[in-house]
Amino acid sequence: NAMLQWQRTGFHFQPQKNWMNDPNGPVYYKGWYHLFYQYNPDGAIWGDKIAWGHAVSRDLIHWRHLPLAMVPDQWYDTNGVWTGSATTLPDGRIAMLYTGSTNASVQVQCLAVPSDPADPLLTNWTKYEGNPVLYPPPGIGPKDFRDPTTAWLDPSDRSWRIVIGSKDDRGHAGIAVVYRTRDLVSFELLPGLLHRVEGTGMWECIDFYPVATRGRGAERGVDMADAMSENGAVADDVVHVMKASMDDDRHDYYALGTYDARANAWTPLDDGGRDVGTGLRYDWGKFYASKTFYDPAKRRRVLWGWVGETDSERADVAKGWASLQSIPRTVLFDTKTRANLLQWPVDEVETLRTNSTDLGGVTLDTGSVFPLSLRRATQLDIEAEFRLDRRAVMALNEADVGYNCSTSGGAAARGALGPFGLLVLADRRLREQTAVYFYVAKGLDGALATHFCQDESRSSTAGDVVKRVVGSDVPVLRGENLSLRVLVDHSIVESFAQGGRATATSRVYPTEAIYANAGVYLFNNATAARVTANKLIVHEMDSSYNQDYVADAAA
Ligand code: FRU
Repeated sequence: NAMLQWQRTGFHFQPQKNWMNDPNGPVYYKGWYHLFYQYNPDGAIWGDKIAWGHAVSRDLIHWRHLPLAMVPDQWYDTNGVWTGSATTLPDGRIAMLYTGSTNASVQVQCLAVPSDPADPLLTNWTKYEGNPVLYPPPGIGPKDFRDPTTAWLDPSDRSWRIVIGSKDDRGHAGIAVVYRTRDLVSFELLPGLLHRVEGTGMWECIDFYPVATRGRGAERGVDMADAMSENGAVADDVVHVMKASMDDDRHDYYALGTYDARANAWTPLDDGGRDVGTGLRYDWGKFYASKTFYDPAKRRRVLWGWVGETDSERADVAKGWASLQSIPRTVLFDTKTRANLLQWPVDEVETLRTNSTDLGGVTLDTGSVFPLSLRRATQLDIEAEFRLDRRAVMALNEADVGYNCSTSGGAAARGALGPFGLLVLADRRLREQTAVYFYVAKGLDGALATHFCQDESRSSTAGDVVKRVVGSDVPVLRGENLSLRVLVDHSIVESFAQGGRATATSRVYPTEAIYANAGVYLFNNATAARVTANKLIVHEMDSSYNQDYVADAAA
C-alpha cells in the first residue's frame, strides 16, 4: 500500500517487510555488529512460526539484511524460535541460547552455534543435536520459562551462569532463576532465586549486567566477567542492573542493585521501594523486550529495544510490515544522580547529520508558538536546552505539585511553569503534532520538580491509533538547563531528557504532517514564565538505506 509507505523510517532498523518483535542475540564478531530479531516470514502480525531474522552492520546504523538465521524446523522449536542471547566464548566463538516453543508449546532452552566460525557474517547456524538443553524445572509452568540471558563465566568455579525469567503463581511474582553450566549443554539449577518481586507477573527477556559507578571507568561499558575478581567477589565500583519486560503491562523496568554471586542473590540499592517493576523504566513510551550487549570494539554497552506499532493490526496488514527497533543506545550509570542509568543514541548516529541549523537564543512568551524554518522535517536529530525565566519562577509560591504527565491534559493544558518544548511532525495548521515537553512544578518549600512528557494525543487525525500522554519526572540538578534530544523519523519520535536520564518513544501516524508538510515548532504554554531555548540545533538526517547484503560491499 503505497499510501502508507511514508511511515517507513529512514534511519531506524526495520526489515523490508512483515512482522518483527524482540531484538535477539546482539553481538560483535570479527568486525561486524550482528542483530537477530523475532520475525514472522508469513506476514505483518505475530504468529506461531516465528523465526530469527538477521542483519549485519559495520557501525550499528547502516544495516544489511541476511537470510533467516534460524527457522522453526525441529520438534523442540516448531512453534517458534523465540528470544535468545549470544555468548562470546573465551576462544572468540559465539554460542546462542534461545527459547524453543515445542510441538506441545512447552518452553525449552536450546543451543545453536555458527556453522562456519570463519564466516564473519555468521550466515548459517547449526542447532545442537542434543537440544533442548533445558526444560522447565519442577514448580515452573511449561509456558513460563523463556528468554535466556547472555552467559557469563563466574571466576570462582570457572562455570557459566545464565538467568531465565519466569513467574511464581503464589503472589503473582516475577522471578529470575539462575543456572550453572560448564558446557552450555548440561545445566544445574542454583538454589534460591536471583530475585523475586511480588505482584509483577511473568518476567520476559531478563537482562542482567554491570555498570561502573566511579571515575573514568564509569565512562565505559563493563563486560560481566570484568566485574568480578578471581575469587568470585563482585568489584566494588560496579552495580548490577536487572531489567525485566513485564508481560502484564508491556513495559521494560529496571533497577540498580548489588549482586552477590556466592549467595546467588541480587538486591536493589533502593530499599525505599524502587525495585524491578515498581520504579524506573527504560522508556516511558513504546519500548519492550530490550536487550544489551557489550561491544568490545568500542568498550561500551549498547541497548536495543523493540518499538511496536500503536495503530491497528488491520493497518499493519495493509502496509505489510510492523515494528521498528529503537536507535541503539549506549547505557551508563549516572554518576551525578547515582540513582538511574543514562541512555544515549550511539555516537555513530551523528554521522547521518546534515544541514544543521542553529536556532538557539529564542525567547518564548507565555502562550506562544514559534515555527522553525527547516527544509525537511521528517528525519531529524534535535538538540535543545531550555531555561525558565528565573525571576518568574522565584515569584511563584506553589504550582502543580503532584503533576503527572499521563493524567494531565497534555501539551494543550496550561499551568504556571509548563508545558513548554517542541512540537514535531506538525502540520501548518497544527492539527497534527507530537509534543515533547517539560512541565515544572513548585512546592511550598520552593523545591522544583521537573516532568518530561510526550503527548501523542494529537499526533494523528486517524482513528484506531493508541494516543497517550507518556512521561515521568526527571532529575534536574542545580545549575542544569532542561535538555532534550529528539530523534524524528517519519513514524517514530524517540526522545531523551537530561542527557538520557529519562526517555520516551512514540509511534505516530500523521496523515497531514508528512513529507514536505511536516514541521517543527517551539511552544510555551506556561502562564507564569517566559522560556528561552538557549540551545537549539536541528540536524536533518540522511537515510541509512538498510539493504540486502551484497557480497562486494563486505570487502
Ligand atoms: C517478548 C516475547 C518473548 C518471547 C518472544 C516470542 O516479546 O514474548 O518472551 O520469547 O517474544 O516472540
